[in-house]
Formats: sequence, C-alpha cells, structure tokens
Amino acid sequence: MKDSLIIALDFPVKSQVIEFLKQFGNEELFVKVGMELFYSEGPSIIEELKKQNHKIFLDLKLHDIPNTVKSAMKVLAGLGCDLVNVHAAGGTEMMAAAVEGLDSGTPAGSKRPYCIAVTQLTSTSEAQVSKEQLIAVSLQDSVLNYAGLAQKSGLDGVVCSPLEAKLIQSQLGLDFLTVTPGIRPADSELQDQKRAATPEFAKAQGVSAIVVGRPITRSANPLGSYLSIKNKWKGVYK
Ligand code: C5P
Repeated sequence: MKDSLIIALDFPVKSQVIEFLKQFGNEELFVKVGMELFYSEGPSIIEELKKQNHKIFLDLKLHDIPNTVKSAMKVLAGLGCDLVNVHAAGGTEMMAAAVEGLDSGTPAGSKRPYCIAVTQLTSTSEAQVSKEQLIAVSLQDSVLNYAGLAQKSGLDGVVCSPLEAKLIQSQLGLDFLTVTPGIRPADSELQDQKRAATPEFAKAQGVSAIVVGRPITRSANPLGSYLSIKNKWKGVYK
C-alpha cells in the first residue's frame, strides 16, 4: 500500500477503461474505481480489473447507519478490493462497523481491504464548516478530529490533502495511511483542483499513496505520463 501511485479511472463505461489500460501492457497497476464507473458497470468492472492483476481502490465513500455500512462492506470485501473508504462524519460506531463488515466478508486466506476515511471533502470550504456544518473549530482542526476518530475506530488511514499529511502523521503516527488526490506534476494544468501539489512535494511530506487522474487519463501519452509521474513520486528524477 505504501508508496503506491493510484490511477483514478474516471471513465463512464468499461469499454473505455479496457481501451485505456491496453497501453500499459503487463504493468501491474493500482487503480481507483469511483462512483460513476461502479454504478454503471457494477461488480463486473472489479472482476475485470482483478483478472488483469491490478490492485483496486473502490472509492464509494460509504456513509449510512452502522448496520447498513457493515453489510455493504461485507459485500465489498467479497469482491476482492484492496482499499475502500467511508465518510468519517458517519461516526465512530459506523466506522468500526465498516471494519467489522470487511473482516467478516474477507475470504479465508485473503487480506482484508484497507479502509480509510474521508475527513472533510476538499470541495468543502472554511465557510461551509462554520456556517453549514456549525462546527466551531477551523477546517484543519475538523480534519484532524475526524482523522483521530478514524484511527480510534480501527481504520487504517484517511484521504487527505498533501498539505495536511505531515500534520496528521505527526499526531497519529507514520503507520496511519495518508492517501492524497490533487496531485499535479509541475508542468501540468490544475483543472478543478484548487490546492494541488506535485508528486515530489507529496513524497517530501511523507504521503503514503497518491491518486492521479487527469494528468494520466487525459494525457496525449498516458503511459509516458504515468512513468514520468511514477519516477518523480518514487524519487527517480528525470
Ligand atoms: O483528475 P484528478 O487527478 O483531479 O483526479 C483525482 C481523483 O481523486 C478523482 O477521482 C477525484 O474524484 C478524487 N478525489 C479528489 N479529491 C478528494 C477525494 C477524491 O480529487 N478529496
């Protein structure tokens, strides 16, 4: 899990995913399947990706009552994903139930998927935290609070911004995973990411894994962009 570069497969249908992945030959990848692709294709997309020997982050951000999340996680563990997630706002009981569901659904002899929590979405502003969520502390303190609750509930880490990773690890330990989207190579466009960071910066912050979408999926040369970002992330500078 540590040091992974996770490619966000933000495509609407399986045929586009298969076409995209052809360029990578036999390279074993770590890929992220989000809501759009999973809701359109269902579990068959996971089967297909597993057949191709890729590791899978199923990014469905579960948030419901503990019993429902537990049952849903039992099903997801049976699909053979490597990493899944929940919203920390669902509470400690819900997060603990997610882990229980994963434990019970993991086939004998397999490793249970890692489970991480979304703290505050990166689309959430300081104003929303105070005016809509009525949280009296800063956005950063709210993120830290949620990360602490996730750890207490038995989760393996959080999704966070590269800018928050160091602080989270200084409070919760280096084994607590920080998985960070919003990664942009220095020469690439920001698109809608507001607080982007380079792979080199993420590495320097001690980030556990980076999630990269459009700089690879929308590149004119996806394999070339993947290898270049991977080299920067792994510390092999070109
Ligand atoms: O294309 P890009 O590199 O911006 O893709 C980032 C991926 O990470 C997308 O799938 C996006 O939904 C996801 N993500 C994010 N910010 C978060 C959580 C997930 O960008 N806080």
